[in-house]
Amino acid sequence: MDKQALQNSLDGLITEYVTNNPRSGKMFERAKESLPGGNTRTGAYMHPFPVYIERGEGVYFYDLDGHRLLDFVNNNTALILGHAHPAIVEALQDRVAKGTAFSRPTALEIEMAELLRERVPSLERIRFCSSGTEAVLNALRVARAFTGKRKIARFEGAYHGVGEYALVSYVPPLGQDLGPADRPRSVPSTAGLSPAVLEEVLVLPFNDAEACTEIINENADDIAAVIVDPLATGAGTCIPEDGFLTRLKELTTQIGALLVFDEIISFRASPGGAQELYGVKPDLTCMAKVIAGGTPGAAFGGRADVMKLYDPTSGAKIPQSGTYNANPIAMVAGLVTLQTMTPKAYEKIRALTQQLGTELEAVFTEVNVEAQVTTVGSLFRVHFLSRPPRNYREAAQDDKLLQDYLFFWLLNHGIHWSGGGNVSLPMTEAHIDRLTAEVRNAFQQF
Ligand SMILES: Cc1ncc(COP(=O)(O)O)c(C=O)c1O
Repeated sequence: MDKQALQNSLDGLITEYVTNNPRSGKMFERAKESLPGGNTRTGAYMHPFPVYIERGEGVYFYDLDGHRLLDFVNNNTALILGHAHPAIVEALQDRVAKGTAFSRPTALEIEMAELLRERVPSLERIRFCSSGTEAVLNALRVARAFTGKRKIARFEGAYHGVGEYALVSYVPPLGQDLGPADRPRSVPSTAGLSPAVLEEVLVLPFNDAEACTEIINENADDIAAVIVDPLATGAGTCIPEDGFLTRLKELTTQIGALLVFDEIISFRASPGGAQELYGVKPDLTCMAKVIAGGTPGAAFGGRADVMKLYDPTSGAKIPQSGTYNANPIAMVAGLVTLQTMTPKAYEKIRALTQQLGTELEAVFTEVNVEAQVTTVGSLFRVHFLSRPPRNYREAAQDDKLLQDYLFFWLLNHGIHWSGGGNVSLPMTEAHIDRLTAEVRNAFQQF
């Protein structure tokens, strides 16, 4: 494909976007007066300015300039029921009228914990918090307390929120600084990180069982936890190869470390999350997004002997307070979401996603664009690569120009995605077909 022609088309699409979104543009100018760079959630920024949203309903959201966008992002996978699902709206309205926060528990947190335990057998005990970041930091802290060891091993490129350990080697720029593929170096992904954190974090290559075995065994005495997003969603959505996650479980068990699954996104993949899909039982699991039904809520949990360190009736070795832990709003929205997401509902969105993947592959072949479409559960991802990426470094070689072009083409034609996305329960074949038709239109002119 002629790159210059593609760049020219992208420039044209951005000009069209600016022209067609004057209210969002103006809102961004106003935002810059109060928020640094007009932004308060780094991932929500896009050049030249983000589209500002007024409201959402079902599979759509509506922006300030009156466009209706078919949403395949769903607040980064959180809204598995789509926007403003009537059952959630009703339950929340009912709850709000009864009070939104208390300094003593409600029965809702027990109901929610029971439901999660029913679905995810590894969750012997659970605690709630308000964000995925908190879930991860608590899981890592308890792993260090339980094992008496200090290092955390994590996978290159993975996203685990914005805690200290999470911001080591999170989507680092490719280059020599990263070290050899089978010996990734720990690199800071934020300014302001203490050098001590870099020393305490080991970086592993996803899907390389041999390299992981060597690194983990060499540091056996120091590693408290290995944390993994089983689908490497932040690092590109890479499918774990046969036996890879099982191998991590064996290795961590052998060295007396804990295996932590970050299922903040991957829990979407099946009723019992990725651990059910791949048949691996982690020691601890972090959850957020889907389990809070579009409100700020999260959880972490796992082995009862580990979680006991949070037990105030026997001295609570780790204090974990939080004004909004197990907040009734998050509990109600989460309960309605999980109750609506029956195994049949999961199967519906999985099948639709698989169909979408097949259709997208056919379109890319038809328009002669080299692309890989990865689907798992209700998640899908497109990479402009010659083969499916196995890990972060392969995924990061994606063609940014093609991605940007397709993003703006879809946005200007009423579809919101992010190099792929996810399917929500209210979606039907018609929505899938609309996306594939628009992807075809995007590339037909070249
Ligand atoms: C895999 C993963 N872990 C952790 C987080 C952090 O969650 P939160 O944004 O709720 O802090 C995210 C958020 O996108 C995530 O995708």
